[in-house]
Amino acid sequence: PTVAVLAGGLSHERDVSLRSGRRLSAALRDQGLTVEEWDTDAGLLDRLRRDRPDAAVIALHGGEGENGSVQTILEMLKVPYVGTSSQGCRRAWDKPTAKALVAEAGFSTPDWVALPNSTFRELGAQPVLDAIVEDLGLPLILKPDQGGSALGTQVVRDAAELPAAMVGCFAYGDTVLAERLIDGTEIAVGVVERDGGPQALPAVEIVPESGIYNYTSRYTAGLTDFFAPARLPEDVAKAVGELAVAAHRLLGMRDISRTDAIVAPDGTVQFLEVNSSPGLTETSTVPMAMEAAGTNLGEVFADLISRAIA
Ligand code: DAL
Ligand code: MG
Repeated sequence: PTVAVLAGGLSHERDVSLRSGRRLSAALRDQGLTVEEWDTDAGLLDRLRRDRPDAAVIALHGGEGENGSVQTILEMLKVPYVGTSSQGCRRAWDKPTAKALVAEAGFSTPDWVALPNSTFRELGAQPVLDAIVEDLGLPLILKPDQGGSALGTQVVRDAAELPAAMVGCFAYGDTVLAERLIDGTEIAVGVVERDGGPQALPAVEIVPESGIYNYTSRYTAGLTDFFAPARLPEDVAKAVGELAVAAHRLLGMRDISRTDAIVAPDGTVQFLEVNSSPGLTETSTVPMAMEAAGTNLGEVFADLISRAIA
């Protein structure tokens, strides 16, 4: 079969996606598959009609790769693909929606509010900022409600930093998610579907040298230490795996996902988000987790591709 690996795209995460796509394509070729690397642009629809791959794998991050757009196109053209449906993508892509669904199911997630830009215009910036600090306390982390790779994310430890941080965050989108910052252990938990259903990979512990897991510390080799599996007590390791599988199911994810969470100093596991298209670069956690589980990127995706075609 011919597999099209869709990468690149026009989102802020284009460079990351090209790295994921390159690594995934090489891994699939090692498995003996025929792989075409497609840089995803406005010509996608025509090319899908013309070249009709047997299956597509989405290595796009951010924007069209995770908000359901490309998935909708593939569904309309009936091209089998690996990964979550357009509907599931929309749920996971919107962080406040994902947090609300996971919280309703009884899991912990840091307290939050989601505020559209218009709130500040309509009600005045300072009163709204004051209300945020009053409600959530400090420190806070601001995130674009839809985004990835920590782009636009701002840590706020002092209320005086809040106005500039808001402006920085709004540069990446129209709604800000303000979330209580938990100074704990950051972990990423991949989930892969096998014949028996979704299964958690070993959690990966993330220890950025700078203390902050931002774009630079994510994608520059050596700036972050990773522990796969994470150095967690057995009961906590079990709880993070259960959270990741539950989140995968609750948000309607398919094939593969990655849940990001923080283990708080009190030992509670705090849900942050689910990624429908986890990074597959040299410094990304999901490939590390696969290796810790005794498998690898090529094997896992070759299996998902054969399931998508079947
Ligand atoms: N958004 C990046 C690619 C990740 O979650 O790994
Ligand atoms: Mg993300």
